[in-house]
Amino acid sequence: MGTVVIKIGGSTVDASGLLQELGKSIKEIIHNDFPVIVHGGGKDIARQLDLLNKEFTFVEGMRVTDAQMVNVVQMVLSGDVNKRIVNALLMEKVNTIGFSGVDGGLFTASKMLIKGQDIGFVGEINSVNKEIITFCQQAKLTPVISPVSRGEDGAIYNVNADLAASELAMAIKADDLIFISDVPGVMIDKKVRRSIKTSEIEELISAGHVTGGMIPKLRSAAEAVHKGVKRVHICGWNGSRTLLNELTGGECAGTVIHS
Ligand SMILES: Nc1ncnc2c1ncn2[C@@H]1O[C@H](COP(=O)(O)OP(=O)(O)OP(=O)(O)O)[C@@H](O)[C@H]1O
Ligand SMILES: [Mg+2]
Repeated sequence: MGTVVIKIGGSTVDASGLLQELGKSIKEIIHNDFPVIVHGGGKDIARQLDLLNKEFTFVEGMRVTDAQMVNVVQMVLSGDVNKRIVNALLMEKVNTIGFSGVDGGLFTASKMLIKGQDIGFVGEINSVNKEIITFCQQAKLTPVISPVSRGEDGAIYNVNADLAASELAMAIKADDLIFISDVPGVMIDKKVRRSIKTSEIEELISAGHVTGGMIPKLRSAAEAVHKGVKRVHICGWNGSRTLLNELTGGECAGTVIHS
């Protein structure tokens, strides 16, 4: 029985039909694997911030997050988005429990600096309370996790969901880490690159081939590969067979990250 961490991005979460397919996809793998879902929700956060007329910016793919924004991020991710996914999985009769990095002290975070720059309540994960995940596995519950976390200082931190998924995969020694995004894989010169070596990643970033949200995704993927996660994939959503294909097809539809 393998452990699979599946990170789903804001676009998958956004379309109701896709969440139904996700439920079916989880059902197909649950007999052989223990799936753990970590979700983002960039689209939903942007929509909510627009409603509040709040402008936002990113530094190296990380959202600059002030005190008011971290509340919005927590409401959107740990509330609306998390429960939407839980609801969709329950509709497909998958036993599910949703929580965030805050609950049970799953993730302890601290302020993340980007090249020495303070971008507000953006966190990196320092420790993972794995027992919560073990508990879910024993209870045959599929965890659905929002990356919002708490610091030892009592602050709430917005943690990029790719980072959270990778930290979790490393901590629970997952066999697979699959990033599902709104692109079919890592695109270089308008084509999906089938495989990327971890040693190439910083070059791809500095050459401008990889920008925005793909920067933290590739860096997180590389770290997971270095820390022993056996298979790390980045791909798009291809219907309810997506997860089964990624896990058993041998061939990944998107990009494989390897050392
Ligand atoms: N070389 C690249 N190949 C593919 N996508 C790229 C590349 N460079 C930049 N990107 C951007 O990265 C985006 C994916 O990251 P993004 O953070 O937006 O989504 P996500 O991580 O899947 O979802 P969320 O952030 O909501 O969890 C793509 O939509 C694309 O615009
Ligand atoms: Mg992202």
